[in-house]
Amino acid sequence: MAEQAQLFQDLERIRQVALEDLQGIQDEKELQSWRSQHMGRNSLYMQVFSKLPELPKEERPLIGQAANKIKNDLETALEARQFELKAKSLKQSLSSERLDITLPGRRVSHGRLHPSTLTLRKIYGIFAEMGFQIYRSPDVETDSYNFEYLNMPAYHPARDMWDTFFTTTPNVLLRTHTSPGQIHAMREFAPDPIRVILPGMVYRYEQLSTRSEIQFNQVELLAVGRDITFMDLKGTLEDFTRRMFGEDARTRLRPSYFPFTEPSAEMDVRCYVCGGSGCPVCKGSGWVEILGCGMVHPVVLRYGGYDPSQYTGFAAGLGPERITLNRYRIDDIRHFWANDIRFLEQFS
Ligand code: PHE
Repeated sequence: MAEQAQLFQDLERIRQVALEDLQGIQDEKELQSWRSQHMGRNSLYMQVFSKLPELPKEERPLIGQAANKIKNDLETALEARQFELKAKSLKQSLSSERLDITLPGRRVSHGRLHPSTLTLRKIYGIFAEMGFQIYRSPDVETDSYNFEYLNMPAYHPARDMWDTFFTTTPNVLLRTHTSPGQIHAMREFAPDPIRVILPGMVYRYEQLSTRSEIQFNQVELLAVGRDITFMDLKGTLEDFTRRMFGEDARTRLRPSYFPFTEPSAEMDVRCYVCGGSGCPVCKGSGWVEILGCGMVHPVVLRYGGYDPSQYTGFAAGLGPERITLNRYRIDDIRHFWANDIRFLEQFS
């Protein structure tokens, strides 16, 4: 009997010590070690429990019940403490990690289209409405396409009009203009009529200046058919400039020379800076050149696969950067490929 009383006492002490300890526990990790200390395999509680079989049979149930009750008490207390700790840490993180929802958000910076792309797209749109398809041709060309088929045989002095980047491969060069695309298009479509634009980058071995770059875009214009006249060329270009620059845009055609067109001309628009009175941008003339053009030369038609006694055509080469300079009043063509974000961000 004395043994039994001792056991009850031991159990009660175990319970009290454990519950006291529990109050001092401050986090989940300590809680785990509390559990193994007071309820684990090597705990005092388990030691008492393992003595049960040694007791006389009739005493076992009472002690067993008491032991089970303690176990339940401890488990309940553990859960309660766990809940308290969780609530505490939640409260803590809510107050220490509070979001200031009145702070302005970070600005998402959007990519923008390059000013040349904006102009190119406008040009595509205008010519698409006039029934011109886009036709692509290579940036790397042979001497034949860039010069010979355009009526400039070897040693022709007009080749000097284009300062050319040659490659280490004989007769292979970077196109100096989009005109070689005329031959590609004609050879694909002959003898059908053609109405295409040929956009793309061209390359020239030139001294950089405010007005000259070593690479820039061109948009070639080509129409071939049976009754095409210079009037069609002039009308198309004037319609284009009105749609590009507005109804009151003023243009003029000046006679010029290109080996692959005859007759040839250049088109100017009224200077966008001075409005025609003369300034440094237009070099005092009041006009800015935006394209070269003319009637396709019979030699070129023949190289393209058309019979010049049956077919005629017109062609033009537009400078989108020149046009962009105009549209946005940019004073230096070198801004275009300098990749300065302060410049590029200004266009939308
Ligand atoms: N290819 C010429 C140049 O780059 C422009 C041009 C194209 C002229 C078509 C006439 C006809 O200068």
